[in-house]
Amino acid sequence: MTDHSQAMTAKYRQDYQAPLYWIDSLDLDFQLQDPLCRVTAISRVRRNGEHNEVLALDGEHLQLVSVSIDGVACEQYELTDNQLRLSNLPAECVLTIVTDLDAAGNTALEGLYKSGDAYCTQCEAEGFRRITYYLDRPDILARYSTRITADKARYPYLLSNGNKVDSGDLDGGRHFVQWQDPFPKPSYLFALVAGDFDVERSHYTTQSGREVALEIFVDKGNLDRAGFAMESLVNAMRWDEQRFGLEYDLDIYMIVAVDFFNMGAMENKGLNVFNSKFVLANPATATDGDYHGIERVIAHEYFHNWTGNRVTCRDWFQLSLKEGLTVFRDQEFSSDLGSRGVNRINNVRTVRGPQFAEDAGPMAHPIRPDVVIEMNNFYTLTVYEKGAEVIRMLHTLLGEDAFQAGMRLYFERHDGSAATCDDFVQAMEDASGRDLGRFRRWYSQSGTPELTVTDDYDGDSGVYRLHVRQHTPPTQDQPQKLPLHIPFDIELYDEQGAVIPLQYQGQAIGNVLDVLEAEQTFVFDRVPVRPVPSLLRDFSAPVKLHYDYSEQALAFLMRHARNEFARWDAAQMLINKAVFDGVTRVQQGQEVELSATLLAAFVAILDEASLDPALKAEILTLPGEATLAELFEVVDIDAIHRVRDAIHTRLAEAFGPRLAATYDSLRLTGYQVVHADMAKRALKAVVLGYLAALDAERADALVREQYGAADNMTDTLAALQVANSHLLPCRAALLADFEGKWAQDGLVLDNWLRLVGAKPAADVLDEVKQAMSHPTFSIRNPNRLRALVGSFAMNNQVQFHARDGSGYRFLTDLLIELNSINPQVASRLITPLIQFKRLDEARKGLIRAELARLQGLPSLARDLYEKVSKALAQ
Ligand code: TRP
Ligand code: ZN
Repeated sequence: MTDHSQAMTAKYRQDYQAPLYWIDSLDLDFQLQDPLCRVTAISRVRRNGEHNEVLALDGEHLQLVSVSIDGVACEQYELTDNQLRLSNLPAECVLTIVTDLDAAGNTALEGLYKSGDAYCTQCEAEGFRRITYYLDRPDILARYSTRITADKARYPYLLSNGNKVDSGDLDGGRHFVQWQDPFPKPSYLFALVAGDFDVERSHYTTQSGREVALEIFVDKGNLDRAGFAMESLVNAMRWDEQRFGLEYDLDIYMIVAVDFFNMGAMENKGLNVFNSKFVLANPATATDGDYHGIERVIAHEYFHNWTGNRVTCRDWFQLSLKEGLTVFRDQEFSSDLGSRGVNRINNVRTVRGPQFAEDAGPMAHPIRPDVVIEMNNFYTLTVYEKGAEVIRMLHTLLGEDAFQAGMRLYFERHDGSAATCDDFVQAMEDASGRDLGRFRRWYSQSGTPELTVTDDYDGDSGVYRLHVRQHTPPTQDQPQKLPLHIPFDIELYDEQGAVIPLQYQGQAIGNVLDVLEAEQTFVFDRVPVRPVPSLLRDFSAPVKLHYDYSEQALAFLMRHARNEFARWDAAQMLINKAVFDGVTRVQQGQEVELSATLLAAFVAILDEASLDPALKAEILTLPGEATLAELFEVVDIDAIHRVRDAIHTRLAEAFGPRLAATYDSLRLTGYQVVHADMAKRALKAVVLGYLAALDAERADALVREQYGAADNMTDTLAALQVANSHLLPCRAALLADFEGKWAQDGLVLDNWLRLVGAKPAADVLDEVKQAMSHPTFSIRNPNRLRALVGSFAMNNQVQFHARDGSGYRFLTDLLIELNSINPQVASRLITPLIQFKRLDEARKGLIRAELARLQGLPSLARDLYEKVSKALAQ
């Protein structure tokens, strides 16, 4: 056993204590040079109250050069692995700390590191301690100034937060720039970038007339890929003024795109650092999906300027205060600008798939976690996506006006300070007058609640009753669960699809029912016929719904529900029933059969002339195998795969000649990133997939033709995906052609890596291993790694879970290597290895053996240690 007692200690939310010292200002001086960069940090320290406690500054991977207090050299310090401890400080003092650090050797991409030829930083959550010794916690708000000195030819741009206040040339070909950020901020929002870039420039005039310079820095030669990001930024700035009344507050807003980045992007004050994947796009290199991702992430980071930066988090347990709220805001932005229905569908897919899986696994935690070993492990689907659902429920309960009143009160109370999730709910409660007492449990309780609904109807009295039972199964972190406040949005339809008004004894009842108790009955009268209920409309709460719908009722809702989401949701439920049924049949050696009702319902969707093709595409896209696995207590990987495949083929047969006709009707000339065209391309891709299931020879010709004629990356990749997933004869040639064309372009090549990882054939690992020696592949680049290995481990269920354990062994070998290179990325890739509870015993045994191998490593990083030990405790 390794001794993890020092570094592996858990921290508890309950143990929060106000800091012993404040830091009011921090003046940083960076000498960027080889081999080590020198950082001088001058802080004004102020004791918090009367005490004589040690000032314990965080610091990791630093070489201390000197410490002085009020200008006098200090030797009386204690230095450990991760702290610099100073005693007997006066009530106020100026502390000067000089350290050296190795940016070029920093492969963890946390702190100050090199991405290609540029220097950049990533400080959230606890990366600032790799830059200097500091109180690296978000409730320490200081005014920063940053002076950067570097070689002028290699690093013409020297950037940091705030406004540029000075610059000049120095001896030896060096130069400096000095920045000043007028807004006090926590250390995690600090940023520095130095390098040579092309710059896309624009400007924005805010509602109140403030002029803001907008600058996007990209690698040289990429200027033709920066325009869409700039448009998205301007749209986000305008939207936040119009919908939330929030304006930008500095004279300049900068975004830098870098190739080496652990996550999507980072909202550093005035200087966002982005994964280049969420900046760079033109029609030749980016898909419609990539464009949407850029719009979303640019907006997300921009929205953090208020929800995150102006009001920040008191401690990291409160992370959802900024992330849940900011995801909600970016979802609303995307929905207001594009299709609300399609956006909702895709957000719900994420919650019902990967987020529910997280709840069911060993890392289950509330959106406001109670205990953390490595904070980087809590940038999760639960904190982000379920966190956004919790904000959305507040919005549903309060309505737009009261919700916005709550936002205004929140900013009135907390602008310029570090707040808690409870502060946010309190502002919503006070502004709206609604009792949110029970609602607060969403912040403290983990797991996926289940709503079981039954109903009865009395034709004589016209009374209809809905009986709702809520129950949250225990999770690994929390055995006991309490009832929650669940907004339950419903609608009732008569046989013609007309809405039956909700009422009781002459009183109208709103669509959103307040489920508060473990069991509750809702009564409606003047219901003229037995209604078809549309339940949990728009996924009004992040719960699993159980209601015994007949196939006829689901087919009816697919056709008649008034809301796009409800139609899609009915289709999902119909498919889920068929999969459930099909797996049983396959396990008994029978064929998969689909009912005439199901087939007719799906054919009707394809035939419905007035339906948005984007929605058609969503409805006709079958749920992924990982999502389907959520339906089962014991997951039969191979049976699910076979059944999903069979359903796809049966549907294709039912569509028949409609497929080719639809495909032809969707051809476009010229590429535009507008909803109507994106919708057609999406449907065309889905239809091509069905064609491949129907007639492989014909599909092979069509795929070759589409690939050859495509003037955009969306159609190109749609062709490749069908070739890959159906192993069409053209697969090898087209993949090789694509690889040849884009071998030099990492971001585009990621698509090829994803296809290789997803190859549905037993030799996939040979191809994956070969791709790892591609000159553009690097284990140090998180994008490359996630594209290839992520696609194999998350989107290739059958091969990753191969019975001989080869998939598990491959991933574990890689994680062992990554453990010392980039633990944060390793910890994200391990997900499919820790969520094994519902697999069969043989596979569980294989996985446990691999996890034990990881656990035995002499220097397992905290990130992996936390997950591996929880997984093995299952
Ligand atoms: N705060 C960032 C966001 O959601 C995400 C983030 C957290 C991050 N930790 C990071 C980004 C580490 C890069 C690296 O917008
Ligand atoms: Zn965020």
